[in-house]
Amino acid sequence: GRVTYITHDGNRHTVELDDGSTVMQGAINNEIPGIDGDCGGCLACGTCHVHVDPQWRAAVGPISPEEADMLQFSAEVAEDSRLSCQIRMRKELDGLIVHLPEAQH
Ligand code: FES
Repeated sequence: GRVTYITHDGNRHTVELDDGSTVMQGAINNEIPGIDGDCGGCLACGTCHVHVDPQWRAAVGPISPEEADMLQFSAEVAEDSRLSCQIRMRKELDGLIVHLPEAQH
């Protein structure tokens, strides 16, 4: 499915992700600036922080306690914050829009 990443300076990058791959991996594979993903997706770094677009928050679903714990270490955290290594592409998320923070630390 498609994911659009909107960087802090307003640039939009739309990429195609296979089902099952993560929004973090999609950014890394396509060299989209703004997501670091230092731990490779094992919920140990908090450098894959994104803001989920309001219209997509319900589809993405609730945050797990483990993810919420790790998210505390990210910068610019808000209500709509998620760790993108925990968002896996599936049919319902085709068209997903995420906003990237200014920095990951
Ligand atoms: Fe490290 Fe997501 S890539 S927590």
